[in-house]
Amino acid sequence: MGIWVINWRVELSQFILINWLIATMNKYVWWFSKQIKSIFLTIVDIDKLLDTFDDIPEIKWINNLTPFNYKEWDINISHLSFWYNECNVFDNFSLKINWWKKTALVWDSGSWKTTLMKLIAWYIHPDLGEIFVDNQNICEINLISYYKHIGYLTQEPSVFDWTIIENLTYALDREPIFDEIENVIKASRCEFIYDLPNKLKTEIWERWIKLSGWQKQRLAIAKIMLKNPSIILLDEPTSALDSISEQYISEALHNLFDWKTVIIIAHRLQTVKEADEIIVLKKWQIIERWNHEMLCEIEKGEYKKMLDLQTSF
Ligand SMILES: Nc1ncnc2c1ncn2[C@@H]1O[C@H](COP(=O)(O)OP(=O)(O)OP(=O)(O)O)[C@@H](O)[C@H]1O
Ligand SMILES: [Mg+2]
Repeated sequence: MGIWVINWRVELSQFILINWLIATMNKYVWWFSKQIKSIFLTIVDIDKLLDTFDDIPEIKWINNLTPFNYKEWDINISHLSFWYNECNVFDNFSLKINWWKKTALVWDSGSWKTTLMKLIAWYIHPDLGEIFVDNQNICEINLISYYKHIGYLTQEPSVFDWTIIENLTYALDREPIFDEIENVIKASRCEFIYDLPNKLKTEIWERWIKLSGWQKQRLAIAKIMLKNPSIILLDEPTSALDSISEQYISEALHNLFDWKTVIIIAHRLQTVKEADEIIVLKKWQIIERWNHEMLCEIEKGEYKKMLDLQTSF
């Protein structure tokens, strides 16, 4: 470029303009990579990162200035409607989830469970209606400050091609204590880590060390336990586990997530038995709402029917 200027092929004004354009572009690339890095460091789930790339216009939400304040953790879904293309998924759906409670959502088949979790996590946005967390409309708050308080276990957790310890700790904004990691490994039944060649420093690499579905699921649970957020979203947390591990993990989840606002979605009712409140939904209607013992008392109740079906074989 400088040579062209010397040879007067490019006028000085054009040279300045081009340099200005390059500098501006650099600024945006830098801004964009900084935002991506912030999301990356604050969330537990790397799928969000991929979703972000699919959903770039929505990146504006992360720059909202109002920080997310946490005092109480009621989640209030108000008159929510959502469409996937032409298909109406939620129609005027309202639900209040109490703070510091473990709430399980149990649906009849053919529902939109993961979609609801993604809406609460603000991965996708409602077409109509609002979601309030702690009386704050999540479309108006700074997303990064929101994610600092959220742990989201997706149905098919993914891992990076990094070491186990890096996968466990990348969402933390502090150095974990060794004992803390040990305890979490035990509570999430991640002892398989100690059988790997370099234990916590083992690199996960698809062609070399590949984790199975249940190992990834346990690792994702360990990650949330270590992050210790105030709102925890669990989408089928034990779906990849055998029944003995399922029971153990269910108990560990319920003990460790005391004094948190937890939403659990599970097909298998074993996982939801300990919840403070179980909400049974049919389409978009709440048809039963109580704890396990009380729901079992309802003769011909929907929950009891599902439970009988699951325990009959
Ligand atoms: N991005 C999308 N675009 C269009 N349709 C989608 C999209 N994501 C999901 N769906 C459809 O929405 C429906 C419900 O999906 P969702 O994952 O919420 O169900 P789910 O209740 O969690 O199912 P499962 O029990 O298998 O976990 C499915 O029919 C799915 O094909
Ligand atoms: Mg699902």
